Amino acid sequence: MKSLLQSIRNEVTSALTSALGAAAAGVDPLVKAAGDPKFGDYQSNVAMSLGKKLGAKPRDIAQQVADALKDSDLLEPPEVAGPGFINLRVKTAKLAAQLEAVPPTVGDDDRLDVERVSDDERQYVLVDYSSPNVAKEMHIGHIRSTAIGDTIARVIEFQGHRVIRQNHLGDWGTQFGMVILALWHLCMRKYQGESIEDFVALTSKLSDDKFPKDERLALIKQRVAIVQENLDRDPSGESDFKPFLEALEPSFDTLLPLYKYVNALEKAAKGIDDPALHVRHADTGTTRHISESSRYVAAMLQGKTDRANDQEIAAWRKSIAATLRECNAIYRRLGVSLTDDDVRGESFYQPLLHEIDAQGARLPGVVDEIKQVLAPPGKEGGGLRVECRIDQGAVCVFFEKPDGKPAFKGAEGESLPMLIEKSDGASMYGTTDIAAVLFRVAHPERNPVQLQTPRLRERLAELGGGLGADRAIYVVGAPQKLHFEMLFPTVHAAGWTKRPDGSTARLEHVAFGSILGDSRKMLKTRSGETVRLKDVLAEAIQRATDQVQKQQADNERGDKLSEDELSRIGETVGIAAVKYAELSQNRNTDYIFNWDKMLALQGNTAPYMLYAYARIRSIYRKGAEEAPFDAAVETAALQLNDPKERDLALAILRLPDVIDSVAEQLLPNYLCEYLYDLAGKFMAFYENCPVLKAPDAATYASRMRLCDLTARTLKLGLSLLGIHTLDRM
Ligand code: ARG
Repeated sequence: MKSLLQSIRNEVTSALTSALGAAAAGVDPLVKAAGDPKFGDYQSNVAMSLGKKLGAKPRDIAQQVADALKDSDLLEPPEVAGPGFINLRVKTAKLAAQLEAVPPTVGDDDRLDVERVSDDERQYVLVDYSSPNVAKEMHIGHIRSTAIGDTIARVIEFQGHRVIRQNHLGDWGTQFGMVILALWHLCMRKYQGESIEDFVALTSKLSDDKFPKDERLALIKQRVAIVQENLDRDPSGESDFKPFLEALEPSFDTLLPLYKYVNALEKAAKGIDDPALHVRHADTGTTRHISESSRYVAAMLQGKTDRANDQEIAAWRKSIAATLRECNAIYRRLGVSLTDDDVRGESFYQPLLHEIDAQGARLPGVVDEIKQVLAPPGKEGGGLRVECRIDQGAVCVFFEKPDGKPAFKGAEGESLPMLIEKSDGASMYGTTDIAAVLFRVAHPERNPVQLQTPRLRERLAELGGGLGADRAIYVVGAPQKLHFEMLFPTVHAAGWTKRPDGSTARLEHVAFGSILGDSRKMLKTRSGETVRLKDVLAEAIQRATDQVQKQQADNERGDKLSEDELSRIGETVGIAAVKYAELSQNRNTDYIFNWDKMLALQGNTAPYMLYAYARIRSIYRKGAEEAPFDAAVETAALQLNDPKERDLALAILRLPDVIDSVAEQLLPNYLCEYLYDLAGKFMAFYENCPVLKAPDAATYASRMRLCDLTARTLKLGLSLLGIHTLDRM
């Protein structure tokens, strides 16, 4: 299937050249789908923009272009309307011929013969999505990055580009001290005979504001005493912790409550100056306030203490495994294409950051590189002047607009910088992201970035030299908008995105709004907690199953579904409903999570789309079984005599253009709107144009073929959204 839009563009472009000669060279023909189908299939607005440029009347230009198109093979003679719109209508015979060229289905990966990009156009496109954090549960908000990112990856891959999926797992940072301590408590709890539920209860006591102060202090002291007792039992971790870790089958359900417990204990103890809240390490003779424990363990993990850290590293690995296991279960259920091979967490980039060696010397990294390359007066990047300098001891990147005013402002109107290293030398989320962009765009051949820092150059080479992305897409919520608005100009200014062929790697932030509850506030459970994604999916499946069952009961005539079929349909519809509700919204806006709306059988919903698909399949099946005419359906000539037939054919042929615009604008809702419109066009066709009772064999075969092509288009479109279809429902 060729892109109609592309063919029409080419026609209009050559008409422009023959009408206006050199004046039209390189001009975008500005063709788009017609605003109102009454006036045509497509329209060109080129006359308006050219009129301004050439100082001529747009209507005159439009007429000249229309005249040049009079003998087009593809288009009917165009009409000029209004101030200079050129209304374009594709010849019906051409529509039929284009669709007839689509071969019958072969195998499972039916692409309706949609053309792939040429070798010259083929890009490496990186999509960073889902990216949850270790030891934090995936909540309802995570479905946004996960579903939107997966659709974008599938669509761009379908175009024929090489897609690199990246799950930027939050697997580094100070919270890992807590994660490791959680596993330690999990190990040592046997001595107190405590269950996971006991820790859940302790956590809520420790974080309950109404719990009397003195009772809380007593509780904290008692817990610290237990820590001390357990620490003395196994000071080196060799006898209990190490064997425990080796045997551990990581489970998220036990890790998470213990993590929350460690967090609550440290928080409750923070700032309370009491000798009983200090823990003593028998092996080193050092003492530390309980609220400092996780920070110390994190430093140990990161190799910043002089103690062996193999147990910490083992514990850290186990916690990642537990989290990934949980995520993978959700990905599989959701039909998301991410696998463990796509995981490249924050920890991966740490070698690119600076380090302090045992002698206290600084081994330079990405921050040093930025400091050097963007030293005052800085460089141009992303339309801003970008400069790196020390501010109050911290390493900061400042951004200035061409008029000299700050690009980003703080509360008092002061210039707001991107902080890339704190005054104590600590790196941050953004520091890792700078290292990650370097790795993503650099490549030994395609983009050999010239780095000033020898150590950084070596480290990058050790990691393989980079991925060489031509386009990197970050699917991350709107709250991180500012972060990316600062990150991208920084790396553009550093020159990392400039390639030898003169092109610039494209960096894009695909932002999205929040999911709101009925009250238009952030969606929360009744008890005020974040809603777990796992629970949402389970409820969706339950509700969908109930709905299918009820429909069955209401529908006396229908075949009864077996238990198996019922649960398969419930699962498919339930998951599809949640995903489709997500994808059919313009991602930039917040949306209200509403079960009834997403499960509705009418409107732009998953159940409507899935039923429409199954219905078309059943019509086609019936036609094939009853075969009222002896006709070769699969290769039938298409007759588009009825306007509804023509509308349907045109809608199917828009598929390649819709895919291109989703890939360009990164808006999956375009695809949903298209599919919904297509299903509507089919219903109108089916009401007006009998298939099984067609007047003759040729009409029957043509209409059957239209049914098949529609179903295949719906199936393909839904598969790009990661939604499974069912042939029978
Ligand atoms: N883990 C981050 C979060 O939950 C999202 C990471 C997005 N990707 C990135 N390269 N910053 O907020």
